Formats: sequence, C-alpha cells, structure tokens
Amino acid sequence: MKLLVYSTKEFELENLKKANRNKHRITYVTDALDSTTATLAAGHDAISIFSGDDASMVVLEILKELGVQYITLRSAGYNNVSIESAKRIGLRVANAPDYSPHDIAEHTICLLLALNRKLIRAHTQVQHYNFLLNDLMGSNVYGKTVGVVGTGRIGSILVKLFHAFGCNILACDLAHNHFLENQYDLEYVGLKELCKKSDIISINVPLTHDTHHMFNMSLFELMKEQVVLVNTARGAIVHTKDLIKVLKSGKIAGYATDVYETEKGIFFKDNSITGIEDEQLKALIALPNVLLTPHQAFVTQEAQKSVAETTIYNLDCWEENRSCKNELDYESLLL
Ligand code: NAI
Repeated sequence: MKLLVYSTKEFELENLKKANRNKHRITYVTDALDSTTATLAAGHDAISIFSGDDASMVVLEILKELGVQYITLRSAGYNNVSIESAKRIGLRVANAPDYSPHDIAEHTICLLLALNRKLIRAHTQVQHYNFLLNDLMGSNVYGKTVGVVGTGRIGSILVKLFHAFGCNILACDLAHNHFLENQYDLEYVGLKELCKKSDIISINVPLTHDTHHMFNMSLFELMKEQVVLVNTARGAIVHTKDLIKVLKSGKIAGYATDVYETEKGIFFKDNSITGIEDEQLKALIALPNVLLTPHQAFVTQEAQKSVAETTIYNLDCWEENRSCKNELDYESLLL
C-alpha cells in the first residue's frame, strides 16, 4: 500500500520504519493535513494523520477525489476527523486507541503532583541557588476526593492510581465500569455532583459535541473552593475564557494541562523566535497556578513504538481485506 504520513515528527520516524519492515511504500512529510496540503496525497492509497491535522468534510472530499481510500490516525482522539463524512463518501478510518493509555495516565499524575508540590518553581529557584521554602507550600493527594470524568482506557488507569494514593474516587461516564466500582470503591455520580464534591478533577473524556466546553462557568461555580483541575484530554472540553476568570479569582487553585483549546497551529512548533499571537494562551501561561505541557503525554518510547505498530497493523488489515479492530464506524460511535 502507498502511504503518505502527514505531520511527521522526527521522533516518530525510527519506530514507523522499524514497524513497517519495508512492506508498505511510505512517504513522510512534515506538513499538516488541511485543504491546501491534501493534494500531496495524490497517488497514495492511504494517509496517516495526527491529532492536529484537519480531516474535516471538505478535506476528506479532496482526498477521496485524489483516490485515497484509507486514513489511519497516529492518535487515540479523532475529534479532528469528520467520521460521518468519511463514512458517507466511503473513506475508511482507523485510530490507535490502545497505545499506552498508561503513559497518558502517568503524565496526568506528573502534572498534578508537579503543580501541587510547586516542582517547577522549586527547580527554577534552586538553579539560582535560592533554597528558601517560603513560596513552596504544597498540598497532598492522599485522602482527597478525586473526580475522574471519563473512565475509559485512560480514566480507568487513573482510578487505580488514585486508589493507590489513598483517595476517595468519584466518576462520571455514560457507561459504568462495574469492575472499577467493585475493586476501587469508585462511585459514579452525575457531573454536577462530581464537581460539587471533588478536590481534584481529572478530565478524560473525548472531545465531542457533548463535551465541547463541558467545563464552563456554570460548572466552575459549583466546584469546591481551591479545587485543582487536570486536563490531559482535549483543550476545547474546557471554556478557557471562563477558566482564566476562576483561576484569577482563586476559586480554582490550579489548572494542570497537556492540551489547549486552540492549540492547532501553535503546538508542535518552536515559536520561541516569532512568539505567539494567541492572547488567551499567553494569559493562561502567565498565571502562576497554571502548569501547561505541549501535548506531550504520548511522547514516550513505549507509546511511540505502539502507535507505529498500530499504524502498520491498520494498513495490513486493509491490504489483506481483514477486519480491522481499530476501524471507526460512525454508527457505533453514536451508541
Ligand atoms: P476512551 O474512549 O477509552 O474513554 C473515554 C470515556 O469517556 C468513555 O468511557 C466514554 O464513555 C466517556 N464519555 C464520552 N463522552 C462522555 C460524556 N459526554 N460524558 C461522560 N463520559 C463520556 O478514551 P481514552 O483512550 O481514555 O482517551 C480519552 C481522551 O484522551 C481521548 O479522546 C483523547 O482526546 C485524549 N488523549 C490525549 C492524549 C495526550 O497526548 N494528551 C493521548 C491520548 C488520548
């Protein structure tokens, strides 16, 4: 199969080449997919895209016209792909759902602990030989009530990790995981109740029409004073403008995040020379109670090996006419 890999990052190449074993004919480009770069896919059977690529209806129609038949995502999230349009025009789409959810869960814990224990400030201070403790007062996780919003692959690992920390765990999900309820004293509650009762809230739902701006002022107002919010899912699940208000007012003690609402075009690039124009992002980064990483939770040796292998697996299935367990079927996504 002829595959064009969009948005190739240097660190992905070795694993992709290794997983492919020269089987499929792969071309790598660093360009992100959008309506202008879609034409690069001419002559390819399949494309591979990343979470920042634009696979909306218009782009999919161009790809289809060019003869592309398959799209394999090097990400678990697929909010950037119009699955409905793909299905309608006969483009088959698969993601990489199982790639190391542990790595994302671990990054969530890293963010939370680093924010709570002011690790970044401590590190910066110490580099200037300032060993004072005055600005380093932290808070612990033990005994706290943690609300996990979304107990899918990543959220369910977080439930286990928070249980090991000695937390009381509340969760909210469309489907209840009875194993987690029985093994980890997890209690499913509605989102509002979770927000009212939690000291720490972790966002682990996908970005959909229903979850877009799910966390906005009306939910923030229900939350406990000094709650800490962690988001390793998608930026647009949080209404950033409202969030900045409650971070400034001190209602929310801290926001630790790996994602940002309008990260497209800014993240995955070095903007250190040119700077950025997104005033909202600048305001967010400037807040002392915000810790933001550049969508890096998936950047581990293990996750990258797994995503490369899944990419090749998806192509193999399609080429050999086997059913592909990662294929995204619009109808089943509606259930
Ligand atoms: P998953 O599909 O296994 O779990 C998502 C859970 O959210 C499911 O249990 C689902 O029922 C629940 N859910 C969906 N809509 C809901 C709603 N409206 N209310 C309550 N619950 C709802 O997904 P997984 O693998 O756990 O990943 C979650 C998200 O994390 C991905 O969609 C992706 O956006 C993000 N992600 C971020 C990464 C990063 O590098 N920061 C890497 C991988 C995933």
